[in-house]
Amino acid sequence: MSSQIIPVEPFDYVVFGGTGDLAERKLLPALYHRQLDGQLSKPTRIIGASRSALTHEEYRTFATNALKEHLKADEYQEDQVKRFIESLFYVSVDAKSDNGWDKLKQLLDDGGKDKIRAFYLAVAPAIFGAISEKIRDHKLITKQTRIVVEKPIGKDLASAMDLNDTIGKVFREEQIFRIDHYLGKETVQNLMALRFANALYEPLWNASHIDHVQITVAESVGLESRAGYYDTAGALRDMVQNHILQLLCLVAMEVPTNMSADAVRDEKLKVLNALKPITPANVEKLTVRGQYRAGASAGGPVKGYLEELESGQSDTETFVAIKAEIGNWRWAGVPFYIRTGKRMAARMSEIVITFKPIPHSIFDESAGRIEANQLIIRLQPNEGVKQSLMIKDPGPGGMRLRNVSLDMTFSEAFNVRSADAYERLLLDVVRNNQTLFMRRDEVEAAWRWVDPILKAWDSVGQKPQGYTAGTWGPSQAIALIERDGRTWHEA
Ligand code: BG6
Repeated sequence: MSSQIIPVEPFDYVVFGGTGDLAERKLLPALYHRQLDGQLSKPTRIIGASRSALTHEEYRTFATNALKEHLKADEYQEDQVKRFIESLFYVSVDAKSDNGWDKLKQLLDDGGKDKIRAFYLAVAPAIFGAISEKIRDHKLITKQTRIVVEKPIGKDLASAMDLNDTIGKVFREEQIFRIDHYLGKETVQNLMALRFANALYEPLWNASHIDHVQITVAESVGLESRAGYYDTAGALRDMVQNHILQLLCLVAMEVPTNMSADAVRDEKLKVLNALKPITPANVEKLTVRGQYRAGASAGGPVKGYLEELESGQSDTETFVAIKAEIGNWRWAGVPFYIRTGKRMAARMSEIVITFKPIPHSIFDESAGRIEANQLIIRLQPNEGVKQSLMIKDPGPGGMRLRNVSLDMTFSEAFNVRSADAYERLLLDVVRNNQTLFMRRDEVEAAWRWVDPILKAWDSVGQKPQGYTAGTWGPSQAIALIERDGRTWHEA
């Protein structure tokens, strides 16, 4: 089985921060892959924009090097790369002055005013406002224009609202695509397929049949030269406010009436609004903060977080675990245990739905323990879905029960490369489909839940607990779930 490719209309993508890390590692390789799969139509153009003074040729060399570095050897195909870089252009613009903007306008106008036009802000949020205003003042906005913004969208509710206001002064909400790249991951979308394209799960998808949910996003990497940003953010802002809450919403939301952007986002918003508040009174019981110490990762010794910082001092958490609850009829009393961290034992992200145990066993004790069914949705590595079932151990020797899994790894089942999340999302912008992008009210609702946690940590003085790099986080995170008689699922 292979996937079906439907070409999109020709477009012009202007990437601000065109020579930056995101463009180099993710955006250019993603667009190249879409070309490789035959999804781009001529005359599509990708226009790098940043302050550096580069010629088109120099930008093409930059992109060629980026592709060489970030593609697998068999993906880098000379003729395809040549075609790809022919669609690349570069304009040097300055967000703070009028330098370069007329050139950009000229280049875009050459494409025609009806061509799809997307502006991707792969730059620091501090200049989102300045760039948006320049785009407006230089009359670059056409009927077919959209803008794409990357996280972080704020560092708390107030700054997120400011940022949304700033962009909102120039663009209408329907033109704004707020990227959360987790929503572009194959398995995340599969969560919706599993829930809403099968009759099997939905009747059981509630507090009467589900015991609890776990969401783990574990990374083995550490700071990766991002100390400047990361130390002002921490795991709660960097991963929970966006990626993990988005996953939680997709697990917990009601069935939307259809897959339209607003139908899905309305349902996600209800979940965010139903999250029970975490306050100074319960924060120590419901949350654990951690910070990694020296240890081992990927087979070698690694430094601790503080040793990676110039200052050598910080109370920023590199790990967080939370017991969250959703106050509505569907989920009353069902804990959602979430955890994420850097320098953990493995790069492993998954959602585990544990069903309630059977009410009564008819089998003798000698048949063995009957374990509750689990549905495991693996985001990475080896994206796939696993459903555990109790079956009879084969053979003539009496009734013995065993817990086995129906295991489907997508790359094996479909024999396709696992596409990067950006490939899907970049083209959804072209298709004008906002279903997998965050609406303003969602982002703000997520901050409305996260802000009080940050404040509560501050007010009770809850500091991060140390954990050894290469482990599953501080022992307090294990206690958080084991106190309830449950354990973290470890693949
Ligand atoms: C980013 C975070 O949004 O997601 C990073 O800022 C994190 O800190 C990354 O490493 C994880 O993404 P992925 O796709 O590698 O799981």
